[in-house]
Amino acid sequence: MSDYLLDESPLSPGVIYRLLSGTVCPRPIAWVATQDKHGNANLAPFSFFNVASVNPPVLAFSPLLDGSGELKDTVRNLNDVAECVVHVGSEALVEALNVTSASVPPDEDEFALAGLEKASMPGVSVPRIANAPVAFGCKLFDMIRFGDQPLAGTLVLAQVVSIHIDDALWDGRHVDMEQLKPVGRLAGSDYLRISDRFAIERPA
Ligand SMILES: Cc1cc2nc3c(=O)[nH]c(=O)nc-3n(C[C@H](O)[C@H](O)[C@H](O)COP(=O)(O)O)c2cc1C
Repeated sequence: MSDYLLDESPLSPGVIYRLLSGTVCPRPIAWVATQDKHGNANLAPFSFFNVASVNPPVLAFSPLLDGSGELKDTVRNLNDVAECVVHVGSEALVEALNVTSASVPPDEDEFALAGLEKASMPGVSVPRIANAPVAFGCKLFDMIRFGDQPLAGTLVLAQVVSIHIDDALWDGRHVDMEQLKPVGRLAGSDYLRISDRFAIERPA
């Protein structure tokens, strides 16, 4: 057994990253479209992702500063154009999602890089991925920065202002998981599917 009191014996950021990402899992994946002030579109996956509020609907995801302490394009774009479209990472598009995690110059269109078509999203100027079954059009609610050091997060709180959802997976009341097939992120390059599910009724 090991106990770490981080004030007294700090672990390196790289070790903490591996410990957190290997234990706080599986994580859903936000596949986030943003746009810079010149209209260049960007796509990137973020598994530090969840629902932060339902009423109003707010999604939360956290791009980290890179190993040199530089902002990722997603955050730089949100500083320019305070809107994004959040898609849910799913099996059908996971290879394209992975392509958009590459570090490419800010003016390179990652829709084109991953062979994805754009479609317009109501309420925001940022495009959605045309064949993604779910997309949330969001306005930036707030961003909280946890410092300037490498791997510091910027918690993005994105308020949902529009929703695109395929009728094949939403009957107005329930989401059909077999149609959505979301994937979860584990540590490193590992993902998981929803094919081994179980249910537990909540106590009254
Ligand atoms: C499945 C997956 C999940 C990821 N989750 C995160 C994350 O939560 N935070 C982060 O900073 N980077 C994450 N990354 C890495 C970013 O996607 C990557 O740094 C990307 O280049 C950022 O793009 P941008 O510079 O266009 O914003 C993830 C990568 C993959 C493949």
